[in-house]
Amino acid sequence: MAEFSKILIATNNAHKIEEIRAILAGTGIEIVSPRELGVEVDPEETASTFKGNAIIKASEFSLAAGIPAFADDSGLCVDALEGAPGVYSSRYAFEGCTFEDNNNKLLDALKDVPEGKRNAKFVCVISLCDGRNLLSDFRGELSGSIAISPKGDNGFGYDPVFVPDFDKMRSRNTRTLAEMTKKEKNSISHRSNALKMFASYLRNQLHS
Ligand code: IMP
Repeated sequence: MAEFSKILIATNNAHKIEEIRAILAGTGIEIVSPRELGVEVDPEETASTFKGNAIIKASEFSLAAGIPAFADDSGLCVDALEGAPGVYSSRYAFEGCTFEDNNNKLLDALKDVPEGKRNAKFVCVISLCDGRNLLSDFRGELSGSIAISPKGDNGFGYDPVFVPDFDKMRSRNTRTLAEMTKKEKNSISHRSNALKMFASYLRNQLHS
């Protein structure tokens, strides 16, 4: 197993840095931001898979900083659309679109798909790279279905149209993610599932 006590979080998104730092706080590994290291990188996400894009981001930041770096990449995959929007989730409607544009396009694409056939999942992949070497990767998923119309005001992205199959008590669920509190969403989300696996890897890494 690779040895390190400090890793770089490969994103310039301040909100993401704060959220991820909180989850990884107990691991004993120092998490540094690009800004703290004076690193400026803005890699293009050109891969066709979540893992590929996470590797591009983690390795470019790691090469620029000279320490291991990790990145996450996530999105929504809809069965009836053969996995779309997938890696194009943020720009599904068009380049520079809003979350609402994406949700409208998605609901339109599924307008003839009946309830029961609207299965989908959120995927989040975290890759940890040392330079160009992939040290490890972690995949979290959240399965559910696409609602007939948007509901709820919380969260972001596709949250108003995504109904997770189960809530945190593993009971059948009918609410969209945007109708759940942040705490409820974090207890089941694809991102927190991947981050929990990553946190456990980091704890083992430090104590091995
Ligand atoms: P990113 O890789 O985390 O930046 O996510 C890419 C895109 O996937 C976002 O712009 C959203 O459209 C969608 N997405 C990822 N995670 C979520 C989520 O938890 N809720 C809703 N949409 C999400």
